[in-house]
Amino acid sequence: MKNKIKIAVVGIGLMGSQHLKALRVSKKAKLHSVVDVNKNSIIHAKKFKVPFYKSSTELLSNNKPDAVIVATPNQFHEKHTISFLDAKIPVLLEKPISDNISKAKKIIQSSKKNKTHLLIGYHRRHNSIVTKVKKQIDSGNLGKIVAANVMCWLYKNKDWYKEKWRIKKGGGPLGINLVHDIDLICYLLGPITHVQATTSNKIRKYEVEDTAIVNFSFRSGALCTLSVSDTIVAPYSYELTAGENPAYPITNQSAYFIGGTKGSIQFPNLKHWYNKGERSWWKPIFHKDLNIRLSRFTLINQIDHLCDVVSGKAKPKVSGNDGLQSLKIFDAILRSTKTGKKIKVN
Ligand SMILES: NC(=O)c1ccc[n+]([C@@H]2O[C@H](COP(=O)([O-])OP(=O)(O)OC[C@H]3O[C@@H](n4cnc5c(N)ncnc54)[C@H](O)[C@@H]3O)[C@@H](O)[C@H]2O)c1
Repeated sequence: MKNKIKIAVVGIGLMGSQHLKALRVSKKAKLHSVVDVNKNSIIHAKKFKVPFYKSSTELLSNNKPDAVIVATPNQFHEKHTISFLDAKIPVLLEKPISDNISKAKKIIQSSKKNKTHLLIGYHRRHNSIVTKVKKQIDSGNLGKIVAANVMCWLYKNKDWYKEKWRIKKGGGPLGINLVHDIDLICYLLGPITHVQATTSNKIRKYEVEDTAIVNFSFRSGALCTLSVSDTIVAPYSYELTAGENPAYPITNQSAYFIGGTKGSIQFPNLKHWYNKGERSWWKPIFHKDLNIRLSRFTLINQIDHLCDVVSGKAKPKVSGNDGLQSLKIFDAILRSTKTGKKIKVN
């Protein structure tokens, strides 16, 4: 494709490196430059033969990109994102939008004031499996949705915790992993009105939680339980089932189970369960494998979508307000963990 959209990546850690790989494959985008405070990241710039900058200010005072991907630690999201939005450069900002609600609102305000697009990196929404599930739910094939059960059970090894921000508040499995599940379940089942949560740090004993159980009430009347832990050896998490990221060994299990009055669905190992005649627990239950190939291209799809937004062909699939809503739910979850009480999400 001629005239590829030129994208700079800010923060070349675990996630920034994934974006670099996706940019290499994208047919719509190409890498403009890399930015990182850590001068060792210059190796990525050399590999891609693009300029390296030590700060977003240095990038902005040089040749400007068409868009940027901000993949720095959460506490820097506000500063970096606003500096680009003020320069009218669209931003794909890694999730979560920020580490606090007032900073998130400032980011959204800056996007509005500058009339410049802001997209949040909830990349699962760019997965074809998720699109299929959403269609099934919205078509009414499952009847009225009654309940959902979501699991995010995984085991993070010692090296993961070498980065100290990951053992402090906001850096644990609720902030890093469950935020994806919050965004996804809201996208599939609609707005959440209340949450109730319990956490534990009994195994790893860090300041941040290692395990949590969260109950959600949806405006539709549906109920959902999510459990997350980064200290369980198990195949039941979206990461280990969706095949989006080759870094995770894939299993053919599911992590999402959504039940309705006419049937239920599980995914990423996509199956639709139903009765053929009368709906009854005494009757045989059948399943249809919904033949969707695992999407290995979600990050590339997300970058291509960013390009479409930059060229005016699409609106952001995941807006700043979606990011803010997830953060409010996350905030309500944290408040609930202190008292165990059910909290209304504003
Ligand atoms: N979408 C996903 O699935 C996913 C997965 C992991 C992390 N993330 C998100 O990506 C972001 C980064 O997480 P990570 O795990 O890659 O972190 P990381 O610690 O591995 O990498 C962060 C990088 O940012 C750089 N950096 C720090 N301060 C900077 C600054 N002021 N200017 C430029 N660079 C700076 C660091 O040197 C490092 O290279 C976080 O917001 C995280 O929540 C998203």
